[in-house]
Amino acid sequence: MKHTDFSPETAMMGYGYQPELSEGAVKCPVFQTSTFVFRSAEEGKAFFEMAHGKPGHEGEHPGLIYSRINNPDMEILEERLKLWDGGESAAAFSSGMSAIATSLFTFLSPGDVLLYSNPLYGGTHKLVHHVLTHFGVEVIGFSAKDGKAEIEAMLENSGHAGRLKMIYVETPANPTNDLIDIEMCAAIAHAYSGKEKKVLLAVDNTYMGPLWQHPLQQGADIVLYSATKYIGGHSDVIAGAAVGSKPVITKIKKTRTLLGTIIDPHSSWLLMRSLETLKIRMEEAARNANHVARFLKAHPKVEKVYYLGFTAENNPEQVHILEDQYKSFGAMVSFDIQGGEKEAFTFLNNLKHIKLAVSLGGTESLAEHPFSMTHADVPATEKNALGVTEKMVRLSVGIENYKDILWDIEQALEKVHINETEWA
Ligand SMILES: Cc1ncc(COP(=O)(O)O)c(C=O)c1O
Repeated sequence: MKHTDFSPETAMMGYGYQPELSEGAVKCPVFQTSTFVFRSAEEGKAFFEMAHGKPGHEGEHPGLIYSRINNPDMEILEERLKLWDGGESAAAFSSGMSAIATSLFTFLSPGDVLLYSNPLYGGTHKLVHHVLTHFGVEVIGFSAKDGKAEIEAMLENSGHAGRLKMIYVETPANPTNDLIDIEMCAAIAHAYSGKEKKVLLAVDNTYMGPLWQHPLQQGADIVLYSATKYIGGHSDVIAGAAVGSKPVITKIKKTRTLLGTIIDPHSSWLLMRSLETLKIRMEEAARNANHVARFLKAHPKVEKVYYLGFTAENNPEQVHILEDQYKSFGAMVSFDIQGGEKEAFTFLNNLKHIKLAVSLGGTESLAEHPFSMTHADVPATEKNALGVTEKMVRLSVGIENYKDILWDIEQALEKVHINETEWA
């Protein structure tokens, strides 16, 4: 049996680390250093040649140079990150946004077209609309309701279909849990690729973490993560990751070195520690989320629950995507409360255990109001059209005893007084 035959959850305990290089320490120490000593000037020259991809070093492993280029904690973390998605290579970043921005800037040039799914995380939405457009990238959005024919018609009607360079997808969508068909997007990318250019498909897999959806197997070229969420999992680190083929990730790493969006040694170490418990954390959170979703669905003050387990009734046309693409219903649950912002805020202000905070994927349960918080910068008309309204609350379900989570939700809902006319 080869080492790589172990399951990712087994490999997380030691893969890529050689204790004999670190005084026999069972766990990889934090290499808190900005730079590395070369044994000779010739070695330094060779390392730089390898870092810049100069020929003559095929098969050699580039040595350690400087922590904006490489660092042992980061390299071992990257070796482990790629295992969950079955990627050839991974790159770690200082945040999810730096992973996304660095990847987009690597492959997009002025005049290119980016096709993206709606809704996107608010930060990504702003990056796409205010930064990429500023650099001359044309952006075209589609929603989960649009099929292949509609999306291709949209591209053709734009008059710029020939300039399509990248498709960027967030699925399940944050915060509506709408599903986008990755294989369909891969087919569109393929249809618009040619000899002179390959249209790349990037998928933000933050919502499902590396456990429950594997976009590379569905035809994606790049999988992106806010590692701040499930990968970090304890709400104590900001980080990001990109996973894909070696040529694609090598290009992204070159941009990362220039933009300086690399992860630091201590955050890398924290993520390695977190990855050891990734599977058990995520599985427990998903079990708890199922209790929460079913409780909310039966509650008279709740109008609608957005949860993958309810796809058959919420979005019957997306059931085939659920079956083909997902290994779990996940641990993110959004719901519309009867009423509007006032009622949503009353609920949020009365939670006793669940923290009122943005972010997701931590051990603790969190609640927030997407309309005014994570998606504040998305235009209101766009939000309303996508179902992100003032009555929506988003829950990231943690790994506490589920009965305590349900107790908290129930008592906070009791404090919400619904206008008699709206109640009917
Ligand atoms: C789906 C999604 N993608 C990307 C990000 C950005 O990640 P980070 O905050 O680590 O930069 C977030 C943050 O909430 C997110 O929810």
